[in-house]
Amino acid sequence: MEKFYLTTPIYYVNAQPHIGHVYTTVAADVLARWHKFLGKEVFFLTGTDEHGSKIAAAAAEANLHPKDLADSMVLRYQKLWKLLKIKFDRFIRTTEPEHEEVVRTVFSKLYRQGDIYQGTYTGFYCFFCEYYLAPGDGTICPDCGRTAKKLSEKTYFFRLSRYQERLIDFFARHPDFIQPDQVKEEVNNLLSSSLPDLSLTRRCDWGISLPEEISEEGITIYVWFDALLNYLSGVGYQRDDNTFQRFWPPDVQLIGKDIIRFHHIIWPAILMALQLPLPKRVFAHGWWLTGGEKMSKSKGNVIEPFTFCEKYGADALRYFLLAEVPFGLDGDFTETAFQKRYNSDLANDLGNLIHRFSNLIRNQFGGKVPEPGDGGILAKKVSSLLPKLEEKMDRIDFFGYLESLREVITAANRYLDEEAPWRKGENSAQVLYNLVEVSRILSLYLEPFLPHAAVEIQKRLGLTELPSGKEALKWGLTKPGSQVTEGPPLFPRIK
Ligand code: MSP
Repeated sequence: MEKFYLTTPIYYVNAQPHIGHVYTTVAADVLARWHKFLGKEVFFLTGTDEHGSKIAAAAAEANLHPKDLADSMVLRYQKLWKLLKIKFDRFIRTTEPEHEEVVRTVFSKLYRQGDIYQGTYTGFYCFFCEYYLAPGDGTICPDCGRTAKKLSEKTYFFRLSRYQERLIDFFARHPDFIQPDQVKEEVNNLLSSSLPDLSLTRRCDWGISLPEEISEEGITIYVWFDALLNYLSGVGYQRDDNTFQRFWPPDVQLIGKDIIRFHHIIWPAILMALQLPLPKRVFAHGWWLTGGEKMSKSKGNVIEPFTFCEKYGADALRYFLLAEVPFGLDGDFTETAFQKRYNSDLANDLGNLIHRFSNLIRNQFGGKVPEPGDGGILAKKVSSLLPKLEEKMDRIDFFGYLESLREVITAANRYLDEEAPWRKGENSAQVLYNLVEVSRILSLYLEPFLPHAAVEIQKRLGLTELPSGKEALKWGLTKPGSQVTEGPPLFPRIK
């Protein structure tokens, strides 16, 4: 069986989960469900990033031990993932002793082989981003724009500079590694001047201690080095060789565009130093703004995911995030845009389609699916879908995928209008059968995005004993005589 290993970034626990975290995780869940549907063995890893001065500061402010803050935030994340029907295979926390052990062992290995060396760092440091500024950055952090603090301290460096040429060469030979295409330019820019070595330790108590052989009081391992290694420890590196051998390397790693430097430069360099195969693709998605502005608590424009799930349902939130904007570009999240898309795609097009023909089947055939005839235009449309959709998902083009499905939903509604089975013409049985069948197949394709509605549609169509995976996509598998039931609107219209 083919394998598929997929990861999200691990999320900081200094604040509540927000829409940005939901975005990456929902996207990963859609990919995981899709690849499972195709019959692959999927390993979907997500989790939380719990060390570093940012977390320590948030904990101090809340008068909590950092671990207690992390514990409470982890519960929030897990609650949200449950609400959103996120089916991860492993939730990793960087405070797990097994992970900490992997981080120390890797540090020690790289130290022994000369990829990590001791030196002194003098320069500016951004505490918010946990980032040592490069000499050319001045005193302002290039990522967040905050003023950095001057530091001079003994540290251990990773010889990132040693891997510059190898990275350039690897990217040239693996054009798929950096995704989407527009990110390549940014990575090339980062590689166009010499890469400085990377400081791997911090004067901070809340972190993983150095390996015993070089251990020093008050110094811990840099949170990004710790965090990146979750992708290894989370899949059994040095602990569960079977799982590790089965799934390594990642097939897709999803990240936001703000953490490109870490994932497209530092991460592959660490793997090169460890002589491990590199991920096949690292895809950086865009940023959600509100009203064209960055979301922030002080502006009061933060989109709160729990509220949206409760108000509109998890399916609607999952759908909006991936249907509204091509994955890779920035988007504007407003409640008005959300309601507009919900009403047009989900309430009107999809919801109404199911409602209209179910109602006709009840009136004309006592709720039993009538006998099939010629599949006509809908069967034809559906038969060409699979290769098209496979290609979209291979490119992680959720937007294009949903657009192709919307075309079919529109065609089905038009077919219903034109064939007008309510006139009870001689082909009305066949028309209604075709509408059931197209909806059944649509529900399979929509399941990764709308897990709740897809199952509900299948229930209402009385579908049982269907083959699994791609086999279920064949036209004509709905048995005439199955009982169609009606229910409340799948997506009640928002007034
Ligand atoms: N802990 C690090 C990742 C370590 S991975 C080895 C981190 N955490 S984070 O909680 O700050 O952010 C995690 C992800 O959320 C990032 O991929 C980031 O891009 C994404 N988002 C945060 N806010 C976002 C938006 N407003 N819009 C879209 N995604 C954004 O970085």
